[in-house]
Amino acid sequence: MNAAVLHAFDQLPQFEEFPEPLTEKDEVIVQVQAAALKPIDKQIASGSHYTSPRKLPVVCGIDGVGRLEDGARVFFGGPRSPYGAMAQRTVVSRQRCFPLPQDLDDVTAAAVTNPGVSAWLILAQRAKLMPGEKVLILGATGVTGKLAVQIAKLLGAGRVVAAGRNEQVLSTLHDLGADAIIRIDKPGQDLADTFASAAGDSGFDVIIDYLWGRPTESLLAALTREEFAVVKSEIRLVQVGESAGATLSLPAAVLRSTPLTIMGTAGIPPYDVLMDAFQQVMTRAGRGELRVDVEEVPLDEVENAWQRGGQGRRIVLIP
Ligand SMILES: NC(=O)c1ccc[n+]([C@@H]2O[C@H](COP(=O)([O-])OP(=O)(O)OC[C@H]3O[C@@H](n4cnc5c(N)ncnc54)[C@H](OP(=O)(O)O)[C@@H]3O)[C@@H](O)[C@H]2O)c1
Repeated sequence: MNAAVLHAFDQLPQFEEFPEPLTEKDEVIVQVQAAALKPIDKQIASGSHYTSPRKLPVVCGIDGVGRLEDGARVFFGGPRSPYGAMAQRTVVSRQRCFPLPQDLDDVTAAAVTNPGVSAWLILAQRAKLMPGEKVLILGATGVTGKLAVQIAKLLGAGRVVAAGRNEQVLSTLHDLGADAIIRIDKPGQDLADTFASAAGDSGFDVIIDYLWGRPTESLLAALTREEFAVVKSEIRLVQVGESAGATLSLPAAVLRSTPLTIMGTAGIPPYDVLMDAFQQVMTRAGRGELRVDVEEVPLDEVENAWQRGGQGRRIVLIP
């Protein structure tokens, strides 16, 4: 079969022949229809992710959409290595196949599921967003950030502030529900002042951070109080991505002067919580209430596609 095969961490995946997968106990073969090319696929293939393979070659891709032998149309995750989603066929545990609603096409389902379910879980479960709360999405111009803007609104956020550096994509975010836009491509103190002014007297309740690095340092500077202040509500910052940097400098003062809690995404939640988020995202994407911009690319162009992306659009590979 044809597949996107990774031979070395410092090389791009190659479109080439790979042996057909065979099932083991409780596994199924999936005839892949569409597989999204996400930042995590690139991180794993670069060798820098904690789940990066110990042995090569492998087929790339952690999830996708396909058909089972009985004709069922499913979203699947976690193919058994060395098989991956970016291939004509793959092999996964039966429990990791989730039926798709009829009104959601293969390509949209492949593009929306991973970032949409992640954003839903982070806002609803980790941040425990309450109706009326004020939300900042840091890194709102990416595929996941754009979905987070929409989901925050669906969950009843009172005000959503969207921050990013891509002016063209930022200009589209009001249509997705953002109440205010912040450009982050400015010097540190200017950016801190902009965050402070967007937070206003009531401050942010929830911050979803896809960037980390320098923009988050400016945000933390903006949150740091310079006087003894009475604690109002907690600020819950959820660390999700590191598009702008893997590390940052964290001044102690921000944690002592403000009621700030910084938390991570904390792995995969229990099955029933995951399924509820999956159903919510699938239903709303099927109804057109959640929008994702996609670009379909044939699998034989994977090498070129690997080096592109961005502009708030998800590349979806078609085997
Ligand atoms: N843990 C999870 O559950 C989970 C789930 C989904 C995503 N993530 C992570 O979240 C991050 C974003 O994912 P995505 O799907 O939105 O990716 P994406 O569609 O490729 O978008 C990348 C985003 O990062 C921004 N960016 C890249 N380099 C930057 C820099 N140097 N400074 C400032 N902004 C920069 C981009 O801004 P421009 O538009 O200006 O290029 C864009 O907003 C990734 O790190 C991803 O791994 C984590």
